[in-house]
Amino acid sequence: MDGRDLVRAVKDIGTERGRRAWLSAWRHRRADAVGLPRRGAERARVPGLLSGTEPRPGGGLLRFARSELVVRVGVGGAVFWGWDGAEAAPSYAVTGTGPEPDPRAVLEPDTGGGWRVVSERVTVAVSRHGAVEVRTPGGVVLRRELPPRWWEPVEAAEGAGARWLQRSEVAADARFFGLGGRAAGPRLRDGVYRLWNTDPKGGFGPGTDPLYITMPVQMVVADAGTHLVFHDNSWDGRVTLREGEEGAGSGADRPGSSELRVEGGPLRCWVLTGTPARVLQGWSALTGAAAVPPAWALGYQHARWGFGSAAEVRRVVAGYAERGLALSAVHLDIDHYDGHRVFTVDGERFPDLPGLARELGERGVRLVSIVDPAVKAGDPVHEAGLAVGPGGAFVRDARGGEVRGEVWPGTCAYPDFTDPAVREWWGGLYAERLAQGFAGFWHDMNEPVSFTPFGDATLPRSARHAMDGAGGDHREGHNVYALAMARAGWEGLVRLRPDERPFLFSRSGWAGMQRYGGSWSGDVESSWDGLRSSLALVLGLGLCGVPYSGPDVGGFGGSPSGELYLRWLQLGAYLPLFRTHSALWAGRREPWEFGPEVEEHARAVLAERERLRPYFVTLAHLARRTGAPYVRPLWWGAPEERGLRDCEDAFLLGDALLVAPVLECGADRRAVRLPRGRWYDTVTGAAYEGPGQVLLDAPPGRIPVLARAGAVLAVRDGSGGGDGVALEAWAPARGRTGGGLVIRDPGPGFGAGEVERYVVRWRGDTVVVEDEAGHPVENAVVRGL
Ligand code: GLC
Repeated sequence: MDGRDLVRAVKDIGTERGRRAWLSAWRHRRADAVGLPRRGAERARVPGLLSGTEPRPGGGLLRFARSELVVRVGVGGAVFWGWDGAEAAPSYAVTGTGPEPDPRAVLEPDTGGGWRVVSERVTVAVSRHGAVEVRTPGGVVLRRELPPRWWEPVEAAEGAGARWLQRSEVAADARFFGLGGRAAGPRLRDGVYRLWNTDPKGGFGPGTDPLYITMPVQMVVADAGTHLVFHDNSWDGRVTLREGEEGAGSGADRPGSSELRVEGGPLRCWVLTGTPARVLQGWSALTGAAAVPPAWALGYQHARWGFGSAAEVRRVVAGYAERGLALSAVHLDIDHYDGHRVFTVDGERFPDLPGLARELGERGVRLVSIVDPAVKAGDPVHEAGLAVGPGGAFVRDARGGEVRGEVWPGTCAYPDFTDPAVREWWGGLYAERLAQGFAGFWHDMNEPVSFTPFGDATLPRSARHAMDGAGGDHREGHNVYALAMARAGWEGLVRLRPDERPFLFSRSGWAGMQRYGGSWSGDVESSWDGLRSSLALVLGLGLCGVPYSGPDVGGFGGSPSGELYLRWLQLGAYLPLFRTHSALWAGRREPWEFGPEVEEHARAVLAERERLRPYFVTLAHLARRTGAPYVRPLWWGAPEERGLRDCEDAFLLGDALLVAPVLECGADRRAVRLPRGRWYDTVTGAAYEGPGQVLLDAPPGRIPVLARAGAVLAVRDGSGGGDGVALEAWAPARGRTGGGLVIRDPGPGFGAGEVERYVVRWRGDTVVVEDEAGHPVENAVVRGL
């Protein structure tokens, strides 16, 4: 029990919930004491020497004294390898079995007794001791995975496979990103990062790790190239990162290193190489295209834990309307449930939810519902779940008893979403939510959480999961619990409402979660540090393939100053999920609660988001088609520029914009690092030449936002003409051309939308925007002249 646990434990004593949490914690401990296979004596192992090879499509099988390795290069250059019989499927992250083997990639002898697979985009070399090197076609090493080590039980015990350790080296100049949503990012500095989805309890800042979404996915950027590595294993683990050093010691470089330790499960790995854009395109092909949120979910949304009543919801919505502040959705938290029980409504405080939804709908405001996975024991949903499949829908312990935990409604059971029958049942329950008028869904508490005064605030590690037929325990099922819940919700909603794509976002998740929706920061603290973390999370998740996310604007648990609130709102307006939210005990988040000056500035922020909504729609569809996140680090187009790799306080929004939020108290100017090319300040129109750094004004009313010369983007057409979309173009430098893509909202269904391509060029002394056929576009405004 650490200090934090102790404080929590002491606070809980004396309350009824506290008493139950104590009991539940003891029960979990006991469950593990009897149900968790004992490790016993272990043997340390390495593969030993290479003894033979066998060609296979796209690569081959390599036999070592004590293990074997399958290596395969797929069409398009995705590399897979698996030790000890590990194959690509089954996997919770990878859809299908991955790309077809590249027929031209063949296994051949390498120097030094090793073997290699050479393909057009990548070479994989395996040493005779089992080190695996990923090289560029030019022969430069991007990553070297040393021979793995593992510890296997001397006597085979059920469920107790090998623990293993994979050490890797990268270039001395490389930077690490990703590993899911990390508060300390986006650049992951030296340290230990746990792979175990965790509710940090009571708010988090940059020093808190892990958080709700962890993934064994690293994006590594170096002079030699960019790669993404994914160790496809959901077990509890730890990654120790150490950046390299050039000219260390006697002048030789010290490589960067990553050490991955995992408690069990397969040792298998995917590597994708190329530009950042190519790498994420490959990742999205491998793990599934990102769901496109409905267009309304790209507008500003207001949430609160503790609206308390329909009257209060009406009051807040009217407040936005009276002030002419654009509002797209209102999110109802657990206080609208009856006794905090999922799939219920407190009929006294929300007497006619469908009526409220209709009324808000007439004002263009959608209702979004929180959905927690834990079901109160004895509740009708629980009763119904008991009838699912042969053994009921809920997670059981090793002896067959239902695992109980403590969550908001009291003592709860947990659906086992790794069981297809349970997913189907759960998905059907969203019919009740749709009938109440909800248009979107907010999955919460799905790490999953069980309140506890000590130990891990989740299910016992010995709890059993179906693991889609494979059977397993919580050590393996934990990290994919929320991913499987998202799948249940998504598939249920598609069945129930086949003509509309669902809007779903989830606090926890794993690699591949983008197939079902996005995420949000969770309980980020209301501080300047929290503001910084909330940007780190969005950037990090985007680089792990989850393009749609955003923070609780204003932070979750506190009462931000007007200044902090406004700076957060200004950042949030350029992030995919733009939502204010706060805890029951926290201060208000309506813009007018901070005085007339903040309200005026907030009005400009919300109006600008509305103006850019068509651009967000384009970015959402592009994310689906290409895997590129809306929000990208500055190095996106120029990973070789080292200065950009270390820039963590600004980002690119699509190809067109560079956003430099104010992350410091009291600042009214800030330094902005510019990638190569000309950039225009979107407010003053002033032009700056990159690469370099400029000092820009950031008065309370705005943060620096720059447009790339030659960019063309879709914006809302203020004239009220056409379908409401106009083009904004930024003059290219003289003698150059530019362009941009636009995808218009295809409506609420699953239409992919059409890609329109525009070109912007100089004609004599003017700049014109032309469509693909070379015709001038009428409703285009050219700026930067
Ligand atoms: C969790 C969520 C938060 C929500 C609260 C009550 O703390 O992260 O967003 O308001 O639970 O449901």
